[in-house]
Amino acid sequence: MDTEATHVLLVGGTGRFGGKLASALLVRPGIHLHVLVRPGKRRESLTGLADQGVTLVEGSLQDSRSLDSAVEGVDAVISAVSGGPEVMVDGQLRLLDAARRHGVMRFIPSDYSLDFFQAGAFEDSPLAMHRQVAEAVVRSGVRHTFILCGTFMEVALSPLARVFDLERGHAAYWGTGDEPFDLTAMADVARLVAEAVVDRRAENRTLEFTGDVVTVNEVSRVYEELRGHPLQRIYRGTLEDLRRHLAREQSATDSSRDFLVQWGLLEQLSGRGRLRHAARTEHARLHPVTVREYLQARLRPLGDPWAETSATARP
Ligand SMILES: NC(=O)c1ccc[n+]([C@@H]2O[C@H](COP(=O)([O-])OP(=O)(O)OC[C@H]3O[C@@H](n4cnc5c(N)ncnc54)[C@H](OP(=O)(O)O)[C@@H]3O)[C@@H](O)[C@H]2O)c1
Repeated sequence: MDTEATHVLLVGGTGRFGGKLASALLVRPGIHLHVLVRPGKRRESLTGLADQGVTLVEGSLQDSRSLDSAVEGVDAVISAVSGGPEVMVDGQLRLLDAARRHGVMRFIPSDYSLDFFQAGAFEDSPLAMHRQVAEAVVRSGVRHTFILCGTFMEVALSPLARVFDLERGHAAYWGTGDEPFDLTAMADVARLVAEAVVDRRAENRTLEFTGDVVTVNEVSRVYEELRGHPLQRIYRGTLEDLRRHLAREQSATDSSRDFLVQWGLLEQLSGRGRLRHAARTEHARLHPVTVREYLQARLRPLGDPWAETSATARP
């Protein structure tokens, strides 16, 4: 093992956000990346990682012994897993326990969320699970960093949140349309994590990081400017109506992914899940993309015949 490098174990590196994290960690000098891969889940993308010098370790959050071998000799553990309580709580607590027993210097749980310390959460919701794990991390004494970033732009501006459908050109909103919420592109959050994991100043801190703070009306205006075409706005009701609507859906859908995204958005629009200390200045050198830049890379003016080939995505 290279004793000069900081050895970082990434768990969940095969996921949507975890893949971005692996890329961000790979370009940072001085880090040797280890990625935990579940048995039988080897993928082609992992061959690329192995070619770049990443150490692939077989294991699962369900298997404590595999976690002991995976954390042996590593300096830091980053989790980017997703799933139900058996993964997010039981699995991550097993990982934390292995990290504690092996003297790991930094633990970053799989948060990347709005402010789950303040937001309203129901039992077994992702926000409640983040909170439960965070409390255990603090109690464990393992040095840690919690990362809060609002909602991923890729999620909030997609049909998954059931607000914006930018392809079809409409926004179906709740509230006045002027309530602010925090958005950050996944690749920017990944760069922050890759920096924080080796930064002593991030030790035992909650880092709040946002690419942009916007309202539905502001996003609509940016869309209209970039697209040269009005965005049809459909009023769906007050925030209280949204809360009632989600309460009905919760019992009917057993908390599907888009239900959880809408719940998170409600917690932001109502102000409870908003980031209060997101100091753009502290992380300004990372230049996270704004909503305008994000949409600029994805939207093209109607009727521009060259746009298909010229549009490039920054995040
Ligand atoms: N702020 C936001 O808007 C937002 C939006 C989405 C997600 N997030 C957060 O981002 C994080 C990652 O979410 P994601 O959507 O990227 O997740 P994802 O794509 O579903 O990936 C989940 C990862 O967890 C791994 N995993 C699941 N069960 C495991 C186990 N028992 N042992 C080891 N690994 C296991 C998966 O491995 P396999 O490949 O082997 O299945 C995969 O690598 C979560 O904390 C989520 O809450 C935030």
